[in-house]
Amino acid sequence: MNIETLRWRGDMLEMIDQRILPARFEYLSYSSAAEVAEGIHSMVVRGAPAIGCAAAYGVALEALRLNAESPAAFREELNVGIAVLAASRPTAVNLFWALERMRRVWAGMEGAVPKAIAERLLQEAHEIKSEDIRINRAMGSHGAALLKDGARVLTHCNAGALATAGWGTALGVMRSAVEAGKKVSVIADETRPFLQGARLTAWEMVQENIPVTLITDNMSGYLMSKGEVDAVVVGTDRVAANGDVANKIGTYMVAVLARRHGIPFYVACPLSTIDRSIESGSQIPIEERASEEVTGFRDCQWAAPGVSIRNPAFDVTPAELVTGLITEKGVILSPNSEKIAELFSS
Ligand code: MRU
Repeated sequence: MNIETLRWRGDMLEMIDQRILPARFEYLSYSSAAEVAEGIHSMVVRGAPAIGCAAAYGVALEALRLNAESPAAFREELNVGIAVLAASRPTAVNLFWALERMRRVWAGMEGAVPKAIAERLLQEAHEIKSEDIRINRAMGSHGAALLKDGARVLTHCNAGALATAGWGTALGVMRSAVEAGKKVSVIADETRPFLQGARLTAWEMVQENIPVTLITDNMSGYLMSKGEVDAVVVGTDRVAANGDVANKIGTYMVAVLARRHGIPFYVACPLSTIDRSIESGSQIPIEERASEEVTGFRDCQWAAPGVSIRNPAFDVTPAELVTGLITEKGVILSPNSEKIAELFSS
């Protein structure tokens, strides 16, 4: 099944509503930057590369919406739209990477009329989307080579087709391994509190007939201690220049357990997710989300009323716990600042 997380239809962006999967499979339509920003914030679309693609389309939609304005009004209002998109979620650096790329394209069109700029920005958004799939395919084949035939691979959150323009980063590695003829099976952490593992990873793997077993987040240590996990592969929202990795809350716990049990811990990471402007993971902004995500799910609230809540949506795994970063340019084992700098200069 070819999952199209985002698609362009007529003059609108459509995105799968990931909040209601797997109960219902529906697309929602978007026609402005503010609407797309709300779609990102409310997690209709989520996952770092998918957020980047959505933001790029958000800029293009806004430019199209404003293209009958005077050049001065167009410039002013498009900048507001970009700022609204930038404020939608703080951790995934792909959001800022995509906005910067769109800005550079715009800056290169000095003197062009708004209509021409809007058309060019739409073309760039299409390019970001198709490039993402190509990059995921490349990461997939580098990562698949790391998995032995029969590997039981644990993953956390959803770093699949739904988190990208298609194929996926961590789940792209599993897909590529299966495509290469390896029998791999996936162990999906449920991923409290938003349940991306139970709802999205499990759904994607079931659609593809890739064997998948769902566990709650507190079961991974037990399975590792029983020798039932051969490797961990996760995605990431931002990697610092020294190789520290921000990913869905709970990833750090999995990395510590993997090290304790001598299990390789791999991070599938497109270059657009590496933020070389920050030295270490301590500088990565961690999103805190609404307390209702922790006190219950949808209409069912189970926590004691009045209790205080923390809901950091991401954590940081220090580079020393990362066996390898799987990038589109190849695998960097034991990542550090020097190896990451070299990756960008090669
Ligand atoms: O809060 P989410 O669902 O956007 O978090 C997503 C993750 O943490 C993913 O693992 C990460 O973005 C990598 S997606 C290829």
